[in-house]
Amino acid sequence: MDQPRLFETPPAVRQVREVAPGAVHLPGYLSLEQQRHLVDAFRQWASGPVPAHRTKVRGHEMSVRTVCLGWHWSPYRYTREAIDVNGAVVPPMPEWLVRAGRDAVQAAYGSNTDAEACPAGEEGGYTPDTALLNYYDATARMGMHQDKDERSLAPIVSFSVGDACLFRFGNTETRIRPYVDLRLESGDLFVFGGESRLAYHGVPKIYPSTAPEGCGLAEGRLNYTLRHTGL
Ligand code: SIN
Ligand code: MN
Repeated sequence: MDQPRLFETPPAVRQVREVAPGAVHLPGYLSLEQQRHLVDAFRQWASGPVPAHRTKVRGHEMSVRTVCLGWHWSPYRYTREAIDVNGAVVPPMPEWLVRAGRDAVQAAYGSNTDAEACPAGEEGGYTPDTALLNYYDATARMGMHQDKDERSLAPIVSFSVGDACLFRFGNTETRIRPYVDLRLESGDLFVFGGESRLAYHGVPKIYPSTAPEGCGLAEGRLNYTLRHTGL
């Protein structure tokens, strides 16, 4: 993808809400132009080299359709090739997306160079090496789970575009209560690291027909999650 300009300037931040220690919600973080850029990029990657696919988990297809960058995720590991799809090598993480992740961590925490949470890349700071792009139609869901297939405990960065969703952010011990329910809207950023890095989380519901005009998606929800695998 060679349109790095859109993410060169960190977006203006309006509001930072700490949902749990280390878990931060920044509503309206992305401009409509940036949201469209994420949608356009997803559309290009969705046609290959590894097409958007429904990952099978314990024999059941997930309801989201996924594109992976940098590393391919399949239960419960990362590989360079899409071993459960077509065997092709996944596209690399584009530099603009790495920088978008670094800016997001900076916006969430006020720093992107914490040595433990944000291992230094060449420029220093948070350097995600994989992204999972999930498209939800109106009926898609994601069950409560932990992101724990990474060796690194660097934060997870999540960008949402399109229809709003109910996002459930729980605790590190169980899939059940206590949890916080929040609504993620198009353009929102959510970052979770530190004490909340291994918290269970999921998407129980999409709110159809809530995508704002101009975000690039007429229906459904697109979520990018950026991670540092430590591999
Ligand atoms: C995920 O946990 O991988 C995705 C979360 C989301 O869609 O907001
Ligand atoms: Mn997750």
